[in-house]
Amino acid sequence: MNWPWTLDALVLLLGSIHFAIPLAYYAYLKRRVDRPWQLKLKPDYAPSVTVIVPTFNEAGLIKKRLENINAQDFPKDKLDVVVVDSGSTDRTAEIAENWSSRNSDLRVKLVQESGRTGKAHALNIGLTHASGEIIVLADADSFWSQDSLKEAIYPLSDESVGAVTAVKVPMTVDPAKAMKTESTYRSFYNAVRVGESKIHSTPVFHGELAAFRSRLLDEIHGFHENVGADDSHAAALLALRGFRAIASPDAVAYELTPTSWSAYFQWKKRRAKHLVQHFAILLGKLRSAPTGFRRVLGVEIFLHIVNPWFLLAACAMLLLTGVTVGYSMFHLVLLLFICIPLLKKDSREAFGAWIVEQWILAYASVARLFSTELVWPKIEELGRER
Ligand code: GDD
Ligand code: MN
Repeated sequence: MNWPWTLDALVLLLGSIHFAIPLAYYAYLKRRVDRPWQLKLKPDYAPSVTVIVPTFNEAGLIKKRLENINAQDFPKDKLDVVVVDSGSTDRTAEIAENWSSRNSDLRVKLVQESGRTGKAHALNIGLTHASGEIIVLADADSFWSQDSLKEAIYPLSDESVGAVTAVKVPMTVDPAKAMKTESTYRSFYNAVRVGESKIHSTPVFHGELAAFRSRLLDEIHGFHENVGADDSHAAALLALRGFRAIASPDAVAYELTPTSWSAYFQWKKRRAKHLVQHFAILLGKLRSAPTGFRRVLGVEIFLHIVNPWFLLAACAMLLLTGVTVGYSMFHLVLLLFICIPLLKKDSREAFGAWIVEQWILAYASVARLFSTELVWPKIEELGRER
């Protein structure tokens, strides 16, 4: 066999693996989305809850965030809020303070750090001021539907559940500019998160709404300050200990999404770095995971760390054969095959979002070795003070 043929065969093999594994995984999870939770829920469960809102330069959003928490369908005597601000250079702290002095029915405590030492560190400071049996993380640039908090707490009435997160819905400051890629990405990943949760646990949590049993957070010594994906990592550590860490489709968090491509990519690249770092650490713990979670984690580690490189390698080999010996009938057939998903709008968007994601993940796995970005710039277009 001469070498261009070997390369063509490799392209076919890597390309097929790259697409077949996630598609098969998705099909497998989709069938599980509607299965029962297998939890013993207690309708009269009423734990005390502390919501921690970490902020850095959120003057444009903090008031709306507090109002949204205040408007939750949740008993006020069971609820308190800790805002941890890390040296914001805008009026975040002042606005939070003013709001709480005018709304004394919701207990809000403002804690200030003089500078930024990372979001996880800020959360740990928040924990020292939190009295709730349940700790809920609430990013400032997100909003919950009215019963999301209640829905996120309810599964914790079963002792086997250690943590619950929401499903995310993207939202833009300017709805006319809604980002297609992000909506497509979300509808796919929300089904994945819930499907994984039905098996055992999902290793990806969202700081926009993430509830943890306080006692268990103590056991894992709070949020790990050298890990960017603080929320996902804490949840996965609980799942490794045998507790379930689940995404509830009944708890919805809307998150502000950048609309300009440059801000969007900056945002995606940093999040990808954090996720890749998170999965790289979990790789070392895979063997000790409980059975259901081990399967989920194994696939997710593969999808985040290995699979993007299969696509890149296949693309590189295609280029190489083209440059060295030219293209053949095989390449034409391959091109036609790739065009199939481009014919329909839905699959075109999904395909586009997938390809973008793969390049970002591959970039992130290299870039994170140089900088983990444990402290990151605030994306200006999200929530300018008005
Ligand atoms: N106190 C404090 N100190 N808060 C911070 C800091 C900090 O140094 N940096 C960011 N925050 C706050 C923001 O103000 C916001 O409320 C929240 O933490 C999340 O930060 P964003 O800038 O909105 O980042 P994101 O939307 O990409 O965050 C997502 O990914 C992160 C990991 O990459 C969320 O899931 C986060 O929860 C997650 O940590
Ligand atoms: Mn955010």
